[in-house]
Amino acid sequence: MNKQDLLNPKFMADDNSMYELFDFLRLNDPVTYVEHPDYLPFWSLSKYEDIKDIGHRNDEFLSGPRTVLVRKKVEDMFEAKLGTRNGGENLIHMDRPKHLKMRRVTRDWFLPRNMDKISGSIEQVAKEYVDKLEQLGGECDFVSEIALHYPLRIISTILGLPQEDERYLLKITQEIFGNSDAELRRGKSLNDNLAVVMDLYAYFGEVIEDRKKNPTDDLSSVIANAEVDGEPMPLIDQLNYFIVVATAGHDTTASAISGGLRALIENPEQMQIWSRESDLDQRGAKEIIRWVSPVRHMVRTATKDFVLRGNKIKAGDNIVLWFPAANRDEAVINDANSFQIMRDPKMNLAFGYGAHMCLGQHLATREVQLFFKELLSRLKTVSMNGSPKGIRANFVGGLKSLPITYGF
Ligand code: HEM
Repeated sequence: MNKQDLLNPKFMADDNSMYELFDFLRLNDPVTYVEHPDYLPFWSLSKYEDIKDIGHRNDEFLSGPRTVLVRKKVEDMFEAKLGTRNGGENLIHMDRPKHLKMRRVTRDWFLPRNMDKISGSIEQVAKEYVDKLEQLGGECDFVSEIALHYPLRIISTILGLPQEDERYLLKITQEIFGNSDAELRRGKSLNDNLAVVMDLYAYFGEVIEDRKKNPTDDLSSVIANAEVDGEPMPLIDQLNYFIVVATAGHDTTASAISGGLRALIENPEQMQIWSRESDLDQRGAKEIIRWVSPVRHMVRTATKDFVLRGNKIKAGDNIVLWFPAANRDEAVINDANSFQIMRDPKMNLAFGYGAHMCLGQHLATREVQLFFKELLSRLKTVSMNGSPKGIRANFVGGLKSLPITYGF
């Protein structure tokens, strides 16, 4: 185990090794400089307070141009072909003033009051997927049969996309987030990375055309007809907006749901508490999201020299915020390494912090909450039926497979 393992997708696929490394770094080297022949160097942060602090000083620590750790040669290729180092600039990569203006376009859609309006349809989809689990007859791979499809159905519904496109959207999202996993990515070559982005541009280009001509009350129509500074939003910004909204929410939420079920199986007393006390739903969902922390990191770029815990960080240096490391920091979270659905949900950096804090956080929490509410009110028994397998990734992580047996 060494700090270069942060860049090793196979190592990061295993929760035990990942958390062991985070614990070690937090204790011994919480602000550490990581160098690797395939990547630009970066500072790695693993303490809750540091990650929260840098995460919300958005004018001093920028989200662009590097937002996620990607191999140098992939960044070079994106720069040559798309003019940006990040494969298409969307909300996640933007800084003030553009970021704020773009975020405003959909901000209201994702507020809790709007989530209250769509709770009924989320409940319906949750019921549909718990019904499907029941129909599968007591044995399945929970990730591929249930967890991957439920959040995708919800975001497709919100965007007004046809159900028959879900299989395609799922494949292409996994190709983006799983590009370090040979079982998920499209191919090894740099052109494969670019082709995935181009396919998404072609797909959402058609959606934009359609909603401009035939606006409805869906979220796609809001993006397709958005104005920024009194002008129509440029097509490239619309395309990248679609990509982030359509992709950011399903692998992340799917990982939260499958990791949540695993945590409940491994902590049966917590499952019993939840089954008894349904008003714990929101707390339980937040604890699941803290526990799984599916987004492993984001990168910031320093705009000026500064010193952190005695380390001299220079303007232009990259700083990586490891959210799962923050969420297991015993210095600020009581008994952080135990899964407790009744814990106070305030200390949780799984959605980040500051101007970029997850736009879909209320949607994701509601999805997790309503899924487990439905599941735990009906499920009688559940246990593991083989070893769970992790996604080989250090950006969006979680389970690739969770074999279970169960009874209703
Ligand atoms: C459990 C599920 C989820 C987790 C853990 C998660 C986590 C995150 C994190 C860590 C960030 C970046 C924060 C930063 O840079 O400081 C983010 C941004 C974002 N998330 Fe989520 N997310 C989840 C679900 C969703 C859902 C359901 C959507 C729905 C569309 C969504 C949409 C977005 C968008 C659009 C951004 C960019 C916001 C911005 O840069 O202003 N996410 N999310």
